[in-house]
Parts: sequence; structure tokens; C-alpha cells
Amino acid sequence: MKMPPRLSARRLCLAIFFFGGVTVLVTLHHRMTWSSTKSRIPSEDDDETLIPTTLPPVPLAEEHVTEQLSKSAEKAWFFNGGTEFPTASKGLPRLFPDQTDGDRVIDQLMYVPEDYKGFDSPEKVILAYNGLGAWGQKSGSGSFHGCPVNRCSLSDDRSKAADADAILYKDHFIHPSVPRPANQVWIMYFLECPYHTQSIKFPDVINWTATYRRDSDLVAPYERWTYFDTQVRQKMQNRDYSANKTKKVAWFVSNCGARNGRLAYARELSKYISVDIYGSCGPLKCPRSDKKCFELLDRDYKFYLAFENSNCRDYITEKFYVNGLGQNVLPIVMGARPEDYQRSAPEGSYIHVDEFAGPAELAAYLHRLDKDNTLYNSYFKWKGTGQFINTYFWCRLCAMLHAPRVHRHYEDVNDWWRGPGVCSAKSWRNADFA
Ligand SMILES: *[C@@H]1O[C@H](CO)[C@@H](O)[C@H](O)[C@H]1NC(C)=O
Ligand SMILES: *[C@@H]1O[C@H](CO)[C@@H](O)[C@H](O)[C@H]1NC(C)=O
Repeated sequence: MKMPPRLSARRLCLAIFFFGGVTVLVTLHHRMTWSSTKSRIPSEDDDETLIPTTLPPVPLAEEHVTEQLSKSAEKAWFFNGGTEFPTASKGLPRLFPDQTDGDRVIDQLMYVPEDYKGFDSPEKVILAYNGLGAWGQKSGSGSFHGCPVNRCSLSDDRSKAADADAILYKDHFIHPSVPRPANQVWIMYFLECPYHTQSIKFPDVINWTATYRRDSDLVAPYERWTYFDTQVRQKMQNRDYSANKTKKVAWFVSNCGARNGRLAYARELSKYISVDIYGSCGPLKCPRSDKKCFELLDRDYKFYLAFENSNCRDYITEKFYVNGLGQNVLPIVMGARPEDYQRSAPEGSYIHVDEFAGPAELAAYLHRLDKDNTLYNSYFKWKGTGQFINTYFWCRLCAMLHAPRVHRHYEDVNDWWRGPGVCSAKSWRNADFA
């Protein structure tokens, strides 16, 4: 429908009439469901929307949350400087791995149960069975301040085991040996990878998992990259990231005996390209606490070995996010599978060792990048397109405890966490399983 840009008197009357109607409707709607999400109210310079045949769209529950985010002008609450808070969610929640694809972090952050009544909803009590010190939290409701769903409290008082809404275990499981209410949720949290966590003695009692793994019920990644607009993943940069750099590859490492042969790989690589190894496994020293070490990366080096100590599914830590992406250096990664990095990292921000047959082939590509500044700079185009967000673990946990309860449990949490195919002692390229 093409409209001339000028307003005729008739159209102006229609517009005034329409705006009056919309204002009433919007006010009513606001009373019922809104907190701050803005619908697309027609603006003065948006001429085509002045004479609509139907009402303007209001936030749709069916619409995928991330699409909604990219359309709105304001940033969602979990971004730095974000102001947009979610309203009550209608339709089926997308909270658990079998409800939708992906890590569901954004869906959980934007989830408010339809029947949630704030302070008038019953408080959910979460018992941290191994104490609150390990979590760096205090008992009470402080951890939930500022959450869209905040009617929860934390406790470390084990005598509450019989009536808490959830029992949360950190790294170790201890059976409470008191009768378990039918609706109580037992949650297993692992920070480290399977090689560095213990087997659970009661493998069939866990309801939810909370780990860095993407198929956990509550995904707790080391960092969570989030685009401001999922359609905009690359951006022109106005600087040359290769400028003034005189050195090739750097690596900061303290644990020499890792499970994935990373030291042997780095040594082999150093036969073909200069690799400076800082820390206890190499000749160079730069104390971890020293900020100058990072400045060194920024200023002098083109590449950084962001090698994890284990090759396990989704296992991507600060080594990549902070040491690598946090500096103006191109990270070369080893750890999780190539497809895991592809899903979690900003687009085109790294090189995975498995893209190459071995260290010699990788070195040849690094030499090519070293000579081709345009190609080198193409790995930095993600900068400025998003943020590493705070994933507000406690907010998400609280929202999920207020959601309509779905019964779930792991038949064998050990099999899920450390079963075949989860970790590999060799490169994923040469692993025996698919
Ligand atoms: C490179 O060095 C020059 C001269 O010291 C300096 O002006 C410039 O800012 C440096 N460029 C970068 C990207 O650090
Ligand atoms: C939690 O898991 C147990 C068994 O492990 C199961 O009996 C119970 O129904 C589950 N509860 C919820 C709320 O999912």
C-alpha cells in the first residue's frame, strides 16, 4: 500500500481518531501485562502506519525472544546499560533442553511465569547443600535483587532439606537422607570439566544440571557472547590490528601435563613459527597478576594459543574469552569441538587447531596471515557487535523455580556428564568416535 507523504485533512482526522483509540487500548493493555517492553506504537514520521487495517502489533509470546530483542530499540536488561525488562511470558516456556534448541540463556533471562505475582507469589527456598561460601553468596534474598523474577531466597541451613524447593549441589553430591518432597528439585552444578570432577555416587537422583555444557538445564558458561542485533555480526573496524606487532605466537601456561597433548602441539608448532611460552612450561616469565602481560599480548603479538587443558564438549574457558578475545590478538583454540566454538564464539574471531592437519599446516597459515594484513584484520570484525553479558545465574534459577513444574530427572547423570564421546584424549579430528 503506497501512500503519498503529505497528510490530507481527512487522513489527519483518521489519525487523531486512531491514536485516541490506540492510547486507550495501550493503556488497558499496559495495566494488564506490561512492565516496560515497548510495542511498536506508530511514530509521527512513520506515515504508512497512520491508517492501518488492523491494530499495531503488541509483544508476541510466540515470537522468539532473540528476534524480539533485535527489533527493539532499547537493550535488554542484562546488557550493560540495558533497560528493557520482560513481561509475563505466554505460551510454552523455552527453558529446558527438550523444549527448544540452543543454550536458552536469553529465554531464561527474559522469562516471567504468566501467573507470577511478585511479592504475592510464594517464596522459593534454595538450599545450597555444600554451603554458600563456595558460591560467594549470602543467605537471604540479596542474590535475587534486580531480577525480573526475584521471589526466592538462599539458605545453607541443612535442617531445611525436607521442605526447601530446591537443593543445589556444587561439584559434590551428598545425600540429604531425609524424605524428599515430590516437587523438590535437586540440582547438580559442575564448574570444571569431567576430568576434574568426581563421579556421583547416586547417579539417578538429579533433576537439573547446571554446567558450562550447552545441553545443561541451566547453562552456566564461562562467558556468554550476545549480539546487540543477531543480524549484525560483523562491523567495519577503524584500526589496523596488525600495526606495530613484531612477534608471532604467545602462550601463557602453568600446567604442563594436560590431557590433550597441548604442550607437545605447541612445541611442534614452534619448529615452524616462533612461539614464546611464558610460565612454568617455558623459558619466559610474566606473572599472572601483572597487567603488563596482557599489554604485551595487545602490543607485540599477532597470535595467542588459547589451549584448554582438556578436550571436552563445550569446554571453553576464560583462556579464550579473556586472554584471547579480551585482547587485540588472534586466538588459536584447542579444547571444545570446532562446532562448539562456532556456536559460542563471536563470528570469525578465532582459529581452531582442527581446521588443520597438524602444527606444520597451521604454521603455514599463520605465516600467510602474518603477511596479509587484510586477512589478519578480518578476524576482528566481530568487535563492537555485542557484549559478554552477565548471565545472572541466580535470576534464571529463581525464574525457573517459579515456572510450572515439569518433572525431569537424569537416569544416570554420570553417563550424561562423562559418558563416551564427551571428552577426547586426542584431537577431535582424530577421535575414534563421530
Ligand atoms: C603504533 O605505533 C605508533 C608510534 O609509536 C603509534 O602512534 C600508534 O598508535 C601505534 N598503533 C597501534 C595500533 O598501537
Ligand atoms: C526429581 O527426580 C526424582 C528421581 O530422581 C523424581 O522422582 C522426581 O519426580 C523429580 N522431581 C521433579 C520435580 O522433577
